[in-house]
Amino acid sequence: MTALAIRLDQLSKQYRFGARPRRRTLREALTEAAASPWRNLRRLAGAAGRGTTEDDTFWALRDVSFEVGHGEVLGVIGRNGAGKSTLLKLLSRITAPTSGRAEVWGRVGSLLEVGTGFHPELTGRDNVYLNGAILGMERGYITSRFDAIVEFAGVEQFIDTPVKRYSSGMYLRLAFAVAAHLEPDVLIVDEVLAVGDAEFQQKCIGRMNEVACDGRTVLFVSHNLGAVQRLCTRSILLEKGNLVADGETSEVIRQYLASHDTEAPAGRWIDLTAAPRTGSASARFTGVQYGSGDQLVDFSPHPGGPLEIVVGIDASIALNRPRVGFTLRDRYGGPLISGSTYALGVATPLPIGYSSWRFVLETLPLRPGPYQLELWLADSMGASVDRLQPALWMEVFDRQPRGFGPHYNPRHDGILYCEYSAGRVEAAVRHRTGGEPASAATQSR
Ligand SMILES: Nc1ncnc2c1ncn2[C@@H]1O[C@H](COP(=O)(O)OP(=O)(O)OP(=O)(O)O)[C@@H](O)[C@H]1O
Ligand SMILES: [Mg+2]
Repeated sequence: MTALAIRLDQLSKQYRFGARPRRRTLREALTEAAASPWRNLRRLAGAAGRGTTEDDTFWALRDVSFEVGHGEVLGVIGRNGAGKSTLLKLLSRITAPTSGRAEVWGRVGSLLEVGTGFHPELTGRDNVYLNGAILGMERGYITSRFDAIVEFAGVEQFIDTPVKRYSSGMYLRLAFAVAAHLEPDVLIVDEVLAVGDAEFQQKCIGRMNEVACDGRTVLFVSHNLGAVQRLCTRSILLEKGNLVADGETSEVIRQYLASHDTEAPAGRWIDLTAAPRTGSASARFTGVQYGSGDQLVDFSPHPGGPLEIVVGIDASIALNRPRVGFTLRDRYGGPLISGSTYALGVATPLPIGYSSWRFVLETLPLRPGPYQLELWLADSMGASVDRLQPALWMEVFDRQPRGFGPHYNPRHDGILYCEYSAGRVEAAVRHRTGGEPASAATQSR
């Protein structure tokens, strides 16, 4: 039997609307599972539980178990919102599971959705070294791979520019090059093909093939079924967070395509129509999306990165100068950041019918963890029309996929995130020739 590279045991990740997270002990979880088979059934039945109960949650991933042997190339397919990226985030340790376990043997290199992996203020060069260091590599080794990485990415001219100035294509190229050239034992790639141009896509597939031929393990998420077919002998299919097929790629693709037409495609909106709310309700928030950039609404904001929030409103009355606002709160409800059209002097009217509104924060000053997102809408006089407190729990993810083993950094304490630098300012060096500290002190006098 080949050695294992990955083992998942009932891995689950739950996201919440409006409910307050509470640490549950294993005993509580077991008692609850036994006491409320109904609710568990309802959760299992799909995106589940969007009622107005306190415990308003859904499972992005639910009891997923499988093993991947060392050197296997596994395709992960499924429709939008099926839980593919959630699975990869858990494997990259940028977020923690709600329950279950994920074990990975060896170093993990991951390319997740744009936004994770790089430090925006650092140059391309520094990011290559930083990523290598996090993977536990010696500087000399990273240097030996450096030219190949830069050449693959085609960013020679910009290698000393901070990556926040990169286009999303350049960013992606460099991120892929780093993940694929620093010889991780397990390479995790999410949807890289969706963003790059055709030539770059070919290069990526070629490189993943080389990594695989090298006997390393690859996990590849893509909607490009042709690429999955070419690269992966085995694939898994996720549906609404559940693992529904695991086997030979062409067979799993066949099953996926067969199920495809029978259901309406899942949107990327988090539905708020059933969320608990107050206000006159003549206009209501219907859905929200959020993410780490102005092009993707990927639910993956990270410290120091941008945060974009888009809300949909369905109105049965028109408002001339509506006040649309949000507040981010800590887990106890304390307000941290808020913003509104009113505060900015934006005077766009709210029409009858549907409209969507956007907030963009350039630099999110929050550390990884769950935060409450409150949404509110008021009329021109400030009278509340619709208020969801909280509309949902927003998760901020670690920017840096974590390596495993001795280089794993535990999360720092605190809520606020701030760019800073650190280093020694001055040193009064005393030379000593050895022996006891006391004698060294005497000598240096
Ligand atoms: N941080 C988050 N907060 C709240 N909900 C989330 C978060 N991340 C994902 N979700 C929800 O979890 C579900 C699974 O999302 P995920 O991103 O894993 O899907 P996916 O299979 O990668 O989809 P796609 O093919 O569109 O990339 C979706 O319903 C999504 O809306
Ligand atoms: Mg995804």
